Amino acid sequence: MKYPKEYLDEIKTRLKVSTVVSKYVNLKKRGKEFVGLSPFKNEKTPSFTVNDEKGFYHCFSTSEHGNIFDFIMKTQNLKFGEAVKTLANLAGIRPYTFSKQDEERENNWQKYTLIYSTYINYYHEELLKNSDSKLAKDYLKERNLTAEIVKKFNIGYVKKNPNFYETLIKKFDDKILKECGLFYYDEKKNIYVERFRDRIIFPINSITGQPIAIGGRTIQKNSYLAKYINSPETQFFKKGNNLYNLDQARKFSNLSNEIFLVEGYMDVIGLNKSGIENCVANLGTALTDRQISILNQFFDEIVICFDSDESGYKAAVRAAENSIKELQTEKQISFLFLPDGEDPDSYVSKNGKNSFLNYFKENKITIHDFLFNHFKKQTTNSPSSLATLEKKLRGITNTIKDEFIKKYILDFFLGKIYELTPNLSKGKKFAIKHVASLSSTKKIINETKSITKVELQEYSLLYLIINNLIFFKENINLIDNIKLFTKENKIIFDAILSKLKTEQRPSIKDLEIDTQLIDKIIKFASIKHIFKNDQNRIIELVEEFVHGFKIHSLEARIEELESKFSKDMSETTFNEIKNLKEQKKKENIN
Ligand code: CTP
Ligand code: MN
Repeated sequence: MKYPKEYLDEIKTRLKVSTVVSKYVNLKKRGKEFVGLSPFKNEKTPSFTVNDEKGFYHCFSTSEHGNIFDFIMKTQNLKFGEAVKTLANLAGIRPYTFSKQDEERENNWQKYTLIYSTYINYYHEELLKNSDSKLAKDYLKERNLTAEIVKKFNIGYVKKNPNFYETLIKKFDDKILKECGLFYYDEKKNIYVERFRDRIIFPINSITGQPIAIGGRTIQKNSYLAKYINSPETQFFKKGNNLYNLDQARKFSNLSNEIFLVEGYMDVIGLNKSGIENCVANLGTALTDRQISILNQFFDEIVICFDSDESGYKAAVRAAENSIKELQTEKQISFLFLPDGEDPDSYVSKNGKNSFLNYFKENKITIHDFLFNHFKKQTTNSPSSLATLEKKLRGITNTIKDEFIKKYILDFFLGKIYELTPNLSKGKKFAIKHVASLSSTKKIINETKSITKVELQEYSLLYLIINNLIFFKENINLIDNIKLFTKENKIIFDAILSKLKTEQRPSIKDLEIDTQLIDKIIKFASIKHIFKNDQNRIIELVEEFVHGFKIHSLEARIEELESKFSKDMSETTFNEIKNLKEQKKKENIN
């Protein structure tokens, strides 16, 4: 899908960069430009400039720059197409429709959400009117769902023998009614059956608040029917991409650090009733990394609080294994296990908001603690069982995307394992100086904020070489062409390389490296726990580092050019940056 240049240009000409930016950033005029605090960084002195003449913004502290579309995409987290729509709207010009298919999809989306809202509103009104739904009313009373909460969540009740298809078919075509998931076709009787008949229905909204699906609970006791059913996946509803109540909960991201992620509709509603509104539910399916990353856009801490029963616990383990991939610096994922048999709804209904929040403060457990405890429980002290534990935890750690987090989580896990195996680390020359807890390792990260990813990799490479001198002497070609970036590491590296080439049997002592430097290497190498003599793993690691260095050199060049570009705004520089970024992308894929 490509917008025609004229259309984009029209938007650009109608909207000054400063007009768009000033909707989100407080700008002050300075000469020909505007300046303000960077929206990409928490800062006290303004380093963000806007130049209307050139049609660009530039942030000097993060090197972010671009035009109005980039700005909206980056600050509002939108895709290009959505940014275009937003800005077209702001510019007062018609939204652009593409090919027939795009037009059709857009059309379908409008109809789809209209069908859902018509359906939901109708049954919501019916429930409030209480025409023929005494059973439903009784049910609400029993569960203590007030009119207020019914309104807040737009809850409805679909009667036993509903016939809303007849109403909808007057306005919508048969095809879309069939596809929207509200009905299914009974061939024998030749009728459309309402999926949610005789159920309390909970609307599920898109992140922007349009209804796109429904969850329905039966009100029959000891029923042979499923307690809950959901709309099937449709063109516009994908379970793993949505969360119940996200459209409301995200509005609380300014007020609270954390978001409670619970299992069920009633948990969200129960928490809301007691005044805890920063909560969402994952719609009865396994938690996906997509859902985690959506929540991370808004909240710093995700608190996963499932039912305190066997299936809730199992779901929590799966959620932990899945979501640890997405862990980021500054973000946290924790778990909260309620007293036996409780779910968030039952707990908060019995004990109230403060008790829940206190319980949360005292009992929440970090994702890495939870995972360790869980797998530890399945471990005996036998060597093979310990090996399984280590393998499992390493495997989990390897899925983490962020390099820093990966390093410290591994350190945490291995530290815990070493507590179980005190003999392992005795008497080694480069005995692993185990760092006891993640919070203390965090200190290291803070002390050394200036240490970059590439430096970490350099330390790791040096560590690897120092600990496998003979291997590298025999395989000098592996490292002969590597160029490091940090001055002092470069010196050590070159010294080691020349020793390896000249000494018959190189040893640590011959290297004459300052002990302070050695300490530093040991402190920051992220691969301390590599088994010696695993040659394949060593080769793999070297390849990984070489790859890392390549990426780094591309990044450094891009940064340099970006700063040049902010001054000259030349087309050539821009294209060169684009090229390098593409190269980097390719490199990342390999
Ligand atoms: N769920 C589902 N299908 C089922 C059972 C449950 O999709 N057959 C999903 C629903 O999203 C439900 C959630 O899993 O909200 C939690 O299920 P459960 O704990 O059984 O329900 P509660 O939320 O405790 O609801 P209630 O209090 O109404 O029993
Ligand atoms: Mn439950």
